[in-house]
Amino acid sequence: MAALLLVLLPCLLFTHAAARCPTGCTCQRITGTVDCRGAHLSFIPSNLSVTTEYLDFTNNSISNVSRGALDALQGLQYLMLDRNDITYIEWDSFRALTRLSELHLDHNSLKDARKEMFSGLGRLSLLSLSSNQLETFNFLYAKDLDYLKILKLDRNKLTRIPAGAFNGLINLRYLHLEYNQVTYLEEWTFAGLWSLELLYLNGNRINDTSQQAFAELQSIRALYLDANNLENISFEVFKNIKTVHLALHLSQNPWHCDCDLQRTFSKIYQVTRLSIADYPNITCHNPTELRNVPMRSVRLCIAELVTILIITATVILATIAAIFRAANSRKRKLMRTRHCHVRDY
Ligand SMILES: *[C@@H]1O[C@H](CO)[C@@H](O)[C@H](O)[C@H]1NC(C)=O
Ligand SMILES: *[C@@H]1O[C@H](CO)[C@@H](O)[C@H](O)[C@H]1NC(C)=O
Ligand SMILES: *[C@@H]1O[C@H](CO)[C@@H](O)[C@H](O)[C@H]1NC(C)=O
Ligand SMILES: *[C@@H]1O[C@H](CO)[C@@H](O)[C@H](O)[C@H]1NC(C)=O
Ligand SMILES: *[C@@H]1O[C@H](CO)[C@@H](O)[C@H](O)[C@H]1NC(C)=O
Ligand SMILES: *[C@@H]1O[C@H](CO)[C@@H](O)[C@H](O)[C@H]1NC(C)=O
Repeated sequence: MAALLLVLLPCLLFTHAAARCPTGCTCQRITGTVDCRGAHLSFIPSNLSVTTEYLDFTNNSISNVSRGALDALQGLQYLMLDRNDITYIEWDSFRALTRLSELHLDHNSLKDARKEMFSGLGRLSLLSLSSNQLETFNFLYAKDLDYLKILKLDRNKLTRIPAGAFNGLINLRYLHLEYNQVTYLEEWTFAGLWSLELLYLNGNRINDTSQQAFAELQSIRALYLDANNLENISFEVFKNIKTVHLALHLSQNPWHCDCDLQRTFSKIYQVTRLSIADYPNITCHNPTELRNVPMRSVRLCIAELVTILIITATVILATIAAIFRAANSRKRKLMRTRHCHVRDY
C-alpha cells in the first residue's frame, strides 16, 4: 500500500501542477516560474499557482488588467506584461502584490499612468512603462511607491511634466524620460528626488528650462539633455545643483553660438563639480557661417575682448591724464604759494 502511494504521489502532484498551468505556458513549480510568452492569451488566466514568483506574459494580446486577477499571487516578485495591447489598468489591480520587485509594461497602449493603478506595491523597485502612448501621468505623493529605484517613462507622448510630478519618490535613482515631446521644464519639476542619480531627458524638444527646474537634485551624477531644441541656456540652470559631481550631456542641440553661450560654457568648465561629458561633440547651428563647427574650435568673445581692451585703455589713459593734471596743478599751486611767500617777505 505504502509502495503504491509512493508511486502515485509524484503522479498526483504532477496532475495538480498541470491543472494550474495555463495552456500555452510552461510552469516550473520548484523555481516558481510561469512562462507564458507568446501564448496567445487575451486575458490574465486565473488558477495560477499561488507559489508563482516569476510570471512572464510577454507578447500576448492582453487588453486590460483588472482588480482581482492577480490577488492570489502574493509571493510574486517579477511580472512581465511587455508587448500586449493593454489600454487599461483598473485601480488597485496590483494591490495584493506586496512583494513585487519588478513590473514591466513596455510596448503597450496606455495613455495615462496614475499612482492609484500601482497602489500596494510597497516593494516595487522597477516600474517600466517605456513605449506606450502616455500623454499624462501622476505619481505625486505616491507613498506606496517610495521603494522605487528605477522609473521608465521613455518613448511615450509626454509634452509636459507637471511641477513636482515625482515628489515622494524619495528612493528613485534612475528616471527615464527620453524620447518624449517635452518642450519646457518648469520650476521644481524634479522636486523631492533626493536620491536621483541619472536623469534622461535626451530626445525631447526642450527649448527652454526654468532656472529652478533641477533645484533639489542633490545626488545627480549625469543629466542627459542632448538631442533637444536648445539654442542657448543660462548658467543659473546648473548653478544651484548641489552635488559632488555632475556630468552634463548637451550635444545635438541647435546651439546659437555667441559670446553669451561660450561664456556660459566656460563658467560650467570653471565649476569643478560640473563637467560637459560630450563637449567635443557640441557643434553650432547658428549663425549659419558657423553651422556644424565644433564650439570648442571657435572664439566667440573676441569682439567683447576688443571692447574690454578699448575700455581698459581708455580708463588707463584717463587715469594717467588725471594724474598728470593733478601733478601739474599741484606744481602750479606750489609755485603760486612760494610766490606769495616771496611777496610776504
Ligand atoms: C479554476 O478555478 C475555478 C474557480 O475559481 C474552478 O472552477 C476551476 O475548476 C479551476 N480550473 C482549473 C483548471 O483548475
Ligand atoms: C510573439 O509571439 C508570436 C506567436 O504568438 C511569435 O510568432 C512572435 O515571433 C513573437 N514575437 C516576439 C517579438 O517575441
Ligand atoms: C478586460 O478584458 C477582458 C478580456 O478581454 C474583457 O472581457 C473585459 O470586458 C475587459 N474589461 C474592461 C473594463 O475593459
Ligand atoms: C519653444 O517651443 C515652443 C513650441 O514649439 C514655442 O511655442 C516657444 O516659443 C519656444 N520657445 C523658445 C524660447 O524658443
Ligand atoms: C535665449 O534665447 C531666447 C530667444 O532668442 C531669449 O529670449 C533668451 O533670453 C535667451 N536666454 C539666454 C539665457 O540667453
Ligand atoms: C561623439 O560623437 C561620436 C559620433 O557620433 C560618438 O561615437 C561619441 O561617442 C560621441 N562622444 C561623446 C563623448 O558623446
